[in-house]
Amino acid sequence: MSNTKKKVVAFTAGRRGGNTEIYVKIALEQMEQMGIECKLIRLHECDLRPCKDCPNGPCYMHGPSACILKDDGPWLAEQFLDSDGYLLGAPVWSLSPCGIVTDFRDRVFGPKMDLAMWEAHGIPDWADGRAKQRPGALISVGGALTEHWTSLGMATLYTTTFSAQTNVIDNMNVYQVADQGEALMRNDYVLRAKYLGQNLGHAVLNPQKDWENKWLGNLEDGEACPGCHTSLVIAKPGKNYVECAVCGRKGLLSLDEDGNIQYRWPEDNRNRLTMMGKFDHVREIQRHTEEIYKPHVDEIQEELNRYRKMEQFTVKAPSKQK
Ligand SMILES: Cc1cc2nc3c(=O)[nH]c(=O)nc-3n(C[C@H](O)[C@H](O)[C@H](O)COP(=O)(O)O)c2cc1C
Repeated sequence: MSNTKKKVVAFTAGRRGGNTEIYVKIALEQMEQMGIECKLIRLHECDLRPCKDCPNGPCYMHGPSACILKDDGPWLAEQFLDSDGYLLGAPVWSLSPCGIVTDFRDRVFGPKMDLAMWEAHGIPDWADGRAKQRPGALISVGGALTEHWTSLGMATLYTTTFSAQTNVIDNMNVYQVADQGEALMRNDYVLRAKYLGQNLGHAVLNPQKDWENKWLGNLEDGEACPGCHTSLVIAKPGKNYVECAVCGRKGLLSLDEDGNIQYRWPEDNRNRLTMMGKFDHVREIQRHTEEIYKPHVDEIQEELNRYRKMEQFTVKAPSKQK
């Protein structure tokens, strides 16, 4: 009998049984009760090496199994492709998610898993039947008492969602949860994790052509950007607007009579959380290659070879010394 159950795969980083894992499991329990098949994968227990961006990228053509690195990377990509919903949870280490999250992102996602690229140039055989937008949710867990010590956590978790058009329908930015088991002392976050699990479960059980720009999480979180519900903005002097550092939306700035910042975010359907925004990016990359790089590439060959051969400063790591 074929298994028609919807599947959610949760990738977690941090300590085994740690705070992040607790919130992820709380969310998964909700989804399991909704009849969804749930998996949890501990990234720290995977053999996962950093992407080498190797020439001609065999994985682009032939899929994850063609990766030159023989580790768990291809299996992680298959787990994602076989899922109907995505959950990622990670602790904050030095303002950002711990490093394995960006290795995971670079091995599994990026250009080789780019839905906009596939729509423009055709879906590769290895992804056929599995090229689809998925709903997703993100959980970032920091231990600091002040939220600004988690500033790059959620923003960086979002970077795993762009290429494959994983539409984040809820996110949860936790702080003040540091020590082993402390996750359970915070009833507010425990309830929030349940709510996040129900939201992701709902999105997975109600597939739409896309869940783009649809938010099921709290509206009263008070985050600046109404698109990705984060508050990390780029604010350049001399401008009257800010740009959301995560999705790129522009927010017009003003101050109310008490001097508080007010934002107005004009309608926008081309930010990088949208397919249209990604099409723009695909075309921008092509234009760059054709118009800026190719006409001048011959001029730099001699210098390029000189730098390629230059080894006088390089020190080999002990593992590479024979
Ligand atoms: C190397 C390291 C750096 C950390 N840096 C931060 C930080 O910048 N901000 C913060 O809020 N918490 C920081 N923490 C605390 C963890 O985010 C916190 O303990 C969290 O609950 C760990 O999650 P886990 O139990 O899922 O591993 C750091 C922890 C470690 C081990």
